[in-house]
Amino acid sequence: MDDIAPLVHSIGKPGMSRRRFIAGMATAASALAGASALALSEGTARAAGNRLPVPELLVPTQQGGVTVFALRAARATWQLLPDVTSGSAGFNGPYLGPTLRVRNGQRVRFEVTNGLDEDLAVHWHGAHVPPQDDGGVHAAFGPGQVWKPEFTVKQQAATLWYHPHTMGITARQIAQGLAGMLIVQDDSAASRALPGTYGTDDVPVILQSVAVGPDGGIRYESGSFSEPGMAFPLVVNGVAVDDEPLTFTASTGRVRLRLLNASLSETLTVRRMDGGKLTQVATESAFLNRPTQVAAVRMPAGARAEVVVDVTRETVLETMVETGVGRRRDSRQSFLTLLPGSGGGGRRTALPARLNTIHRYDVSHLRPRVIALTENGGMLGINGVSGTTMKAMDAHEIVVREGDLELWEVVNRSPRNHSFHVHDVPFQVISVNGRPPTGVDLGWRDTIAVHRGARVRIAMRFTDYASDKYTYMLHCHMAEHEDLGMMTSLKVRPR
Ligand code: C2O
Ligand code: CU
Ligand code: CU
Repeated sequence: MDDIAPLVHSIGKPGMSRRRFIAGMATAASALAGASALALSEGTARAAGNRLPVPELLVPTQQGGVTVFALRAARATWQLLPDVTSGSAGFNGPYLGPTLRVRNGQRVRFEVTNGLDEDLAVHWHGAHVPPQDDGGVHAAFGPGQVWKPEFTVKQQAATLWYHPHTMGITARQIAQGLAGMLIVQDDSAASRALPGTYGTDDVPVILQSVAVGPDGGIRYESGSFSEPGMAFPLVVNGVAVDDEPLTFTASTGRVRLRLLNASLSETLTVRRMDGGKLTQVATESAFLNRPTQVAAVRMPAGARAEVVVDVTRETVLETMVETGVGRRRDSRQSFLTLLPGSGGGGRRTALPARLNTIHRYDVSHLRPRVIALTENGGMLGINGVSGTTMKAMDAHEIVVREGDLELWEVVNRSPRNHSFHVHDVPFQVISVNGRPPTGVDLGWRDTIAVHRGARVRIAMRFTDYASDKYTYMLHCHMAEHEDLGMMTSLKVRPR
């Protein structure tokens, strides 16, 4: 099974030759076997009583009609596993970052201070913003510098996130803890009807399959995962889950969970352990047309989903962790026990029958633009070009025209699975291997699994924010693949 050619890590690491790309991964459960209760101390991730920690909501300031959010990235230490301390990084804290909550129509500015000792680019994943504010690799800024993108929020309510996008070192920076949730609110009837009290019945669930070496070092190159003594904890809102799932008490009897797969490459499939259905209300970029019963929520790296759970009795959520081609085995972990509130469940109104109106794009007149995910001699690329430098990416940028509806056929010509992501605008899935989508796959997305050999057709309209100068990006969201060149620039030319 481990017959896939190794990849080359060359960026900034002269002397490093080919490495084994995928090695055997222990299951999170076996890696954690024997872990006892964690002591509470500074830098300890374990929450009191095994409760799900909820990232704090960042309180913005008002400056002349602009809502300003201040973030500072810095190195720290964080205790992911009981017996070792990990070098970490976080925004405004030692690991992960606060939740940013913005509103459709709001003028916002993010003031991001680079407190690291290296370059940093910070991207608003899923946000529809002008290209110069998007935070792709072109927007990197140095240590001590402050980057201040300012824009008007212009999209429907959605669960987005923010994370580094620094050329060649994105995987390392995300793995160390630089990630957070970005929530867009709006005034739609659906938003008013769904649970929306942050931390009470509207709860972020940031899931990460993390690799930790025996020295506590967080690993991000899969070639190093076969070292003896590696552990692969499932980390939820910054806390490694051990034998016991974390707990959350649904005091109102109903909870809306904003699921984010912030793993570097693993696919996560969330479901109820009792086999019951989950009610999904949103995909990455917007509400679904209607609440949809699903057996599981499958999220490739970078994807999100929102589910609403009525908690009338103890309900345990688990996730399958798929480690990709070449894996020895997948693992399964229960990570969250939802407990009914003392009020005994309380009153629960029915969810609205209609949440959104998604007009399907008519693409019958369009010829698809082929975006090939390629791998040659261990080098990853888009359309055969390895995007490990701005020069290479810009020379082979994908150019579209403002206002145009585009049909893309994303073809996986590499022997691995990938997670395809486009910046700027959400897309609709037109077909997967020729089959039209159903159910939640009819929702707006910005990230989609493209399995090896697969052909996935997506359509999107580049409504506005054209520029002859600045570009967006498109890439595989398995961060290691992105760093290895499966990424290119996307330019929206003025009409
Ligand atoms: Cu979350 Cu360019 O990515
Ligand atoms: Cu993005
Ligand atoms: Cu990939």
